[in-house]
Order: sequence, then C-alpha cells, then structure tokens
Amino acid sequence: MSDHAASVDVLFQPITVGELKLPNRIVMAPLTRNRAGEGNTVGDLQATYYSQRASAGLIIAEATQVVPEGQGYIATPGIHSSEQVKHWKEVTDAVHAAGGRIVLQLWHVGRISHTSLQPGGKAPVAPSAIRADAKVFTADGFADVSAPRALELDEIPALVDSFRQAARHAIEAGFDGVEVHAANGYLIDQFLRDKSNRRTDAYGGSIENRTRLLFEICEAVAGEVGAGRTGVRLSPLTSFGDVADSDPQALFNRAVARLATLELAYIHVIEGETGGDRSPQPFDYAAMRKPFKGAWIVNNGYDRAMAIEAVAGGKADLVAFGRPFISNPDLPHRLREDAPLNALDGDTLYGGGAKGYTDYPAMA
Ligand code: PHB
Repeated sequence: MSDHAASVDVLFQPITVGELKLPNRIVMAPLTRNRAGEGNTVGDLQATYYSQRASAGLIIAEATQVVPEGQGYIATPGIHSSEQVKHWKEVTDAVHAAGGRIVLQLWHVGRISHTSLQPGGKAPVAPSAIRADAKVFTADGFADVSAPRALELDEIPALVDSFRQAARHAIEAGFDGVEVHAANGYLIDQFLRDKSNRRTDAYGGSIENRTRLLFEICEAVAGEVGAGRTGVRLSPLTSFGDVADSDPQALFNRAVARLATLELAYIHVIEGETGGDRSPQPFDYAAMRKPFKGAWIVNNGYDRAMAIEAVAGGKADLVAFGRPFISNPDLPHRLREDAPLNALDGDTLYGGGAKGYTDYPAMA
C-alpha cells in the first residue's frame, strides 16, 4: 500500500462546487465558538479568526440562528437582524481580502434550547413535545434543555420562510453561499428521525413525511440564493442531541435522493457520532451518496492520510476538518508539508476572547 499511496497533491486539485471555484479540497468545518457580542453579532475578532483561515478551499462559518427562537446556546451569532448582517459583512470582506471563500451555516436548534435563551422566556419548538436528554450552555452555565412544545402545522410555512430569509441575509452579508444545518439533532434533524418526530400530520410518520421539512427548506433556500450556492449538512448516525432513527439507511438514502432533485452544490456528511467516533454502527455512505451528482464533503475525525485516501479513492470530493482548523490557521499548508500540528486547547473552545481563538500560530 505505501508504495502506491496517493500523494497529498490530490487535496490541492481545484474543484468547482456549484457556483464556487475552490483551490483545494480542504474545508473548514462549522465550529460553534460562542464568542458573539451584543445582539449576537460578530465583529473584529471573528473577522481575524476567519481571515486567518482563508487558505481553506472553503470555510463553513459557525452555526448561526435564522431566527431568535433558533438559538440554543449563549453567544452564538444570528443572521436575522440588520445589525447581524452588517457585522457579518465585515467578516466576509476580511476573508475575501485574504483570498478565501466562506459560506454560512443556517441553524435552528429546535428543542435543544432553554427558556432563558428564548424570546419571552417561552418553550423551545420541536416536531413533538418530547424533551431531549441533553444540555445547553446558558448565562448560568450548563443546564438541561427545557421541555419543548410541538410546532403547529400552520407554523411550518413561516419556519421554512425563516430559512429562506436568512439565506437572503447571508448573501447580503457577502457570503458565497449557505449550508442548511440538518445535522446533529437540531430542528431539521429532529424532524428526520423517528425518536424525536412523533407527528401524525404531513411532517411525521413515513420517511416521505419526515424528509418533507428538509426538502422544503432546501428548496426555498435554493430558490432564493441559487442551488449552486446551497449545501446541506447531514449526520445519519449521530445520537448528539438525543436523536435516533429505527432505519437510518432508508431514511438518509431517501433524504439524499430528494435533495438530489434540487441539484444543490454539495452535501456534507458527518460520518458516525459527532465528535469523532467513526463507526457506532455499519452504514453504507456510498449507497446514500449514489443519486447525488453534486460535491460530497466528508467529516469526522479525518487526519491527513485518511483525507488523501478518501479523495484519491473517490469516496469524497472534499474533506472537512474541525478541531485541527481551530488550532492550525494554516492547516492546508501543514497538510501539504506533512508538518506537525499545534495541539488544541480544550479549555478555550467555547466562549472567551482572542485566547485560543486568534492566537494559534501559523508556521514560520
Ligand atoms: C455545539 O454548540 O455544541 C454544537 C453546535 C452545532 C453543532 C454541533 C455542536 O452542529
């Protein structure tokens, strides 16, 4: 094998992803860092952080709530107010000035929230009134999520529209595109999986019904900003946020088949359990991918050798790195040179300021 091992050059072949022309196959995964300021806006700190990482083929900016109700943790940014749009523009300008490309991840947490983070202190919304066994970070520290209420059928059009509107805002803010966050046990994923979705209307029950919200949101977003600027993130096996499904293969095969009809720019898949456990149970990702003709991004615990093998072997077009990009702003250069990586400081992941955010050094 080593005699014939593919070269790292495969990671530096340019690729067209929808409307985006990317210089390499190395993607910065979306990473929640909880450093938003007043009004859940970003600012100079985020402009520095993201522009330091502009050598990524594509940056997927952190999960960003599409409406105030979509927030589940303290100090996460939004894309619903004009102030938020204005400040995100400073970030996208900085990334573009540094030669990079950046899309925004559109987020609604659904039931993974706390009344203290919700407008008017109300209950978070969910497909069904089932409280998750999960915690969120609030102004008072870690707390169990609050009991949610089930969305009414007649509230769904406005929910879909909130993603469409957020996508429009993201383009106004200078993003090159958007990624619909349908992974990790947040709202769209809560609708997909049958442990969290017990609805008996058109959005629950059959796989066709449980994939409906995902499809409608992606259709609306793609209709607003262009399919070539729309991606989606899925996590078929994760139990993050207390989600599970009785038949993930059938569910996600069908989800991708439906998304394929929209001709989206890319699908981004977390393989296994969010956070690095790659094989909680068998899953045929190739079967899931089959109907989709756009770019395929894989993620979850990839290292240099795995990334080269995945792209060289045709398993993926691009590989997203999360934690390595936190501690290595020049990760593509380090991968190319097979240089050592800076260690990650686990204490500065969430919240705080520049420390552990913009102070990781690039190679000399
Ligand atoms: C988190 O805040 O822990 C978080 C946010 C978004 C994800 C995963 C984890 O997709």
